[in-house]
Amino acid sequence: MSYENQKIAEVAAALSQRFEELATKPDILKAVELKALYAEIPTLPAEQRASFGQEINQLKQELQTKIDAHGEQAEALPPIDVTAPFDVNIAPDKRPRFLPAEHGSQHPLMTELATVLNIFARMGFTAVESREIDDDYHMFTSLNFPEGHPARDEYDTFMTVQKDKFDKAYIAPAHTSIMQHRILKAHKDQLEQGKPIAAVIPGRVFRNEDLDARHEHTFYQFEGIYVDRGINAGNLLATFKTFLSEYYGQSVEIKSQPFYFPFTEPSFELALSCPFCQKKGCNVCSHTGWIELLGMGMIHPNVLKEAGVDPNEYTGFAWGCGLERLVMMKYDIEDIRHFESANLKFLRQFS
Ligand code: DAH
Repeated sequence: MSYENQKIAEVAAALSQRFEELATKPDILKAVELKALYAEIPTLPAEQRASFGQEINQLKQELQTKIDAHGEQAEALPPIDVTAPFDVNIAPDKRPRFLPAEHGSQHPLMTELATVLNIFARMGFTAVESREIDDDYHMFTSLNFPEGHPARDEYDTFMTVQKDKFDKAYIAPAHTSIMQHRILKAHKDQLEQGKPIAAVIPGRVFRNEDLDARHEHTFYQFEGIYVDRGINAGNLLATFKTFLSEYYGQSVEIKSQPFYFPFTEPSFELALSCPFCQKKGCNVCSHTGWIELLGMGMIHPNVLKEAGVDPNEYTGFAWGCGLERLVMMKYDIEDIRHFESANLKFLRQFS
C-alpha cells in the first residue's frame, strides 16, 4: 500500500517490519508511532487534517488485515501429534529438541515422595501409582459410599461433561483411595498363598476448595493398604508411627481420635506430637502440641467383599496421607500454595 504523506509512509514501512518480529501480532496496533500520528492531527493546518487522518486510518486498516490473515494461517496449521514416534537413527541435530535438563531440578515434593516411598519399600510395601482421571465406581461405590450418600459431598472435585457407559461423569480423583478396590482385586490371590497385600499408592488429587495457606485444589496423597490374616488397628498405628519417626528423623508420639470414613470401620484421625516444639506448644501446632495429619482405619468389610476378599478370613488397614502437609512440617513451610506457584525463589532452596 502506498501513502502520499512521507511520514505515514515511513511509519508504515517500520511497522510492517516490526509486525514480522512480534510474538503477539495484535500488539502492533499499540505502537507508539501510530499514537504519535493521531496526536499530530490537531497540530496540522485545517485543510490537511482530513487527508492525513484518512491515511492513518488506511494504515490501521492495513495492519488489521495483516493481523487477521496471520490468525487464519495459525488456525490452518495442522495440530501437532505429540504421540508421533521419531526415528532414533537420524542425526542428533535433526531429532526433536527437548529442554536441556541441566537447567532444571527435581521438584521438592518429588524428592520427598521418593524418601517416603523408600521408607515404605524397606517396610515391605510395593509402590503403585494412582491415576488422574477415574469413574464414579472407584471414587465412591467400591468404597462403600452408596448412591446419594451425604458423605459423597465431602469429596467435591472436578468432573467431565463427557459421560461413561453408566451415564456418569468422569472424575478428577479427590483421594488416592480410588486405588483400593483395584489393588485388592489384583492381589487377592496372593492372600491364599499366605502373602499379605502391602501397597503404598502415591498420586495427585483434586478438590474444589477455597484456597488458603492450608488448602490447594491440587495436591498429593499417598495411600497405604495392608491386608492379611489377623491384622488389627495396633498394627496400623505401629506401622505409621515407625514411618513418621523415620521420616522426621526423630521419635514422634502419635494420638488417634475417632473419625468417620465410609470405607473404614473403625476410622481414625491421626495427630502427631509437634516436631517443632516437642509438645510444648508453638505457632505451627496452634499451641496444642499436636498436629492433625491424616485419616486411616480398618478397611470396611464391604470394601473387602466388593473386591472378592472374604472379610471373615482377612482384615486390613488403610490410610490416606497428604504429602504437602508432611513436607510443610518437615521444613517449616507456612503456605501450601508455594508448591504449585512455580516461584523459583522458593524452589531453589531445595535444589
Ligand atoms: N481418602 C481419605 C481422604 O482423602 C483419607 C483416608 C482415610 C484414606 C481413611 C484411607 C483411610 O485409606 O482408610 O479424606
